Amino acid sequence: MKIFLLITLVLGSLFGAKVVKVSEKYESSLKCKICHKRIVEEWSNSWHAKSHFSKDEYFRKSLQYVSRKTHRSLNAVKVECATCHNPRISVTNTGEDYEIASVMGLTKGSKVEKAVNDKAISEGINCVVCHNVDKIHDEYDKTKRGINRVEWTKNGLMTGPFKDAKSPYHKVQSHEFMTTNPNKLCFVCHANDRSESGLVFTNMQSEYKGKKKCVDCHMGKRHKDYVSTYPMYNGKARQRMVRNHGFKGAHFASIWRNALALKLQATNRALRVELYNPQPHNLPSGYGSREILVEVTYKKGTRALKEEILSLTRTYKRKHHKASTAHLAIKQSRDESIPAHGKRILRLPLIKGADNVEVKVYYRLVNDEVRSILELKDAIWSKKMFIVSKSLKLHK
Ligand code: HEC
Ligand code: HEC
Ligand code: HEC
Ligand code: HEC
Ligand code: HEC
Repeated sequence: MKIFLLITLVLGSLFGAKVVKVSEKYESSLKCKICHKRIVEEWSNSWHAKSHFSKDEYFRKSLQYVSRKTHRSLNAVKVECATCHNPRISVTNTGEDYEIASVMGLTKGSKVEKAVNDKAISEGINCVVCHNVDKIHDEYDKTKRGINRVEWTKNGLMTGPFKDAKSPYHKVQSHEFMTTNPNKLCFVCHANDRSESGLVFTNMQSEYKGKKKCVDCHMGKRHKDYVSTYPMYNGKARQRMVRNHGFKGAHFASIWRNALALKLQATNRALRVELYNPQPHNLPSGYGSREILVEVTYKKGTRALKEEILSLTRTYKRKHHKASTAHLAIKQSRDESIPAHGKRILRLPLIKGADNVEVKVYYRLVNDEVRSILELKDAIWSKKMFIVSKSLKLHK
């Protein structure tokens, strides 16, 4: 028994990431708002601010699904997924003992339960996630992500892009992953996302091409504005070159417009649809089961003769060849995404009588299969976001 305890203690300290407590003075973005109003407002509308299970139906139902199908307690799965979704959680691993206690109904008021339901983590990926990163261990094994890849600063020390900033509320320090190499910060979580059995279903780091930085597009161009409205410099606030904290991505219809380029060509028998992706990462990318829809309408004049819908997505199988979400996958279907700076060509037979054809391309956050497995209700998951469309006259 003693040996067993010793082993769990040693393993616990080896594999559990080091937690640094964030005091109430810093844990909520509301505390930053008095001086950094613009930034807090921009961030509040981002999906980083919704990465907690209470704010994202898809994430919440995925957690429940993983717990149900693996016969593990929901709290244990919440702790596991918090690695990237809620990295300031105060418990970083649970283990067998917790499962036994959970089955016996002995976990009420436990450290794990408190950690999972702590309001301190309810903001998801907030200011004290990115700005309290002190070190990123790129020398670690590539499977270690989120909390297992970083070390936190001392409570109250903010990492930022400026070497000469001064604040009355917190200490500051500058790091290269806030200035010249911000991709390194993004890849702490946006890389090597894997299923319970180790199948890597997303790796934005390995698919990435070119020199552009993630922040160039997802935080926009640098522009002049106030970092803080606090009169810190000779009784005045100061303008600097800043970016937008909106982190706009797949959930925002507006930025899908023209994210892909479409080209149509016809021979006498086939229609050739070319989709070119000018972005430095695949599309769809990110979480599995995202989908690009290609809707082809064959027409005679303005009258539609036939409509065909192609889905570029990935599907997953768990045990016994059953359809599943990415996190339980042991197998994944062929990758249909459009590679970074690359293209995908679809060939379709033409139909008799059609003298023109129209192609419309849309994006959807969740494909039919997973929406139905998880019974997702919010309209956003099935909403079609318009990307691009084109028509072509067919020669007889
Ligand atoms: C996902 C990571 C991430 C989160 C979350 C985040 N930031 Fe930032 N922040 C950055 C990066 C990266 C930069 C540097 C951008 C640049 O200039 O290239 C930055 C820059 C800043 C700056 C310097 C000025 C500027 O606007 O460029 C301030 C101040 C700041 N953030 C405050 C905040 C506050 C307050 C919050 C919470 C509401 C927050 N940040 C949330 C990543 C993040
Ligand atoms: C009382 C005002 C005040 C509050 C409250 C405040 N800050 Fe700041 N912060 C400042 C000032 C002033 C600066 C420096 C601005 C400059 O140099 O232009 C700053 C700079 C920063 C920077 C950039 C540091 C660098 O070296 O680039 C970050 C990041 C930051 N704050 C994060 C936060 C976060 C997160 C919170 C909330 C937990 C917060 N601040 C609360 C006043 C404040
Ligand atoms: C601590 C982990 C973590 C870090 C660091 C991180 N992200 Fe994220 N990011 C996430 C998670 C988790 C989500 C999904 C949240 C959700 O949908 O509930 C996300 C979502 C996004 C999205 C999709 C938003 C949408 O509307 O679809 C974009 C874009 C994004 N992050 C960009 C970045 C960039 C750029 C950086 C680096 C400056 C970064 N992230 C750093 C974890 C992280
Ligand atoms: C040249 C601009 C550009 C750069 C640089 C860029 N992205 Fe994107 N990204 C896009 C566009 C356009 C989309 C598709 C529309 C959308 O979701 O915003 C996208 C989509 C995404 C999505 C949602 C994908 C999905 O289908 O779920 C995530 C997450 C994301 N980007 C993260 C990143 C990260 C992390 C980096 C850096 C490694 C990065 N992006 C670099 C333009 C860019
Ligand atoms: C390696 C870090 C990491 C871990 C661990 C992780 N995720 Fe994620 N997750 C992400 C990132 C990054 C995104 C955003 C990708 C995107 O926007 O497409 C994301 C997005 C998601 C989404 C899509 C949310 C949306 O609003 O569209 C779901 C669902 C999800 N994760 C479920 C889970 C579950 C369940 C677990 C635990 C079993 C988990 N994740 C563990 C990094 C992680």
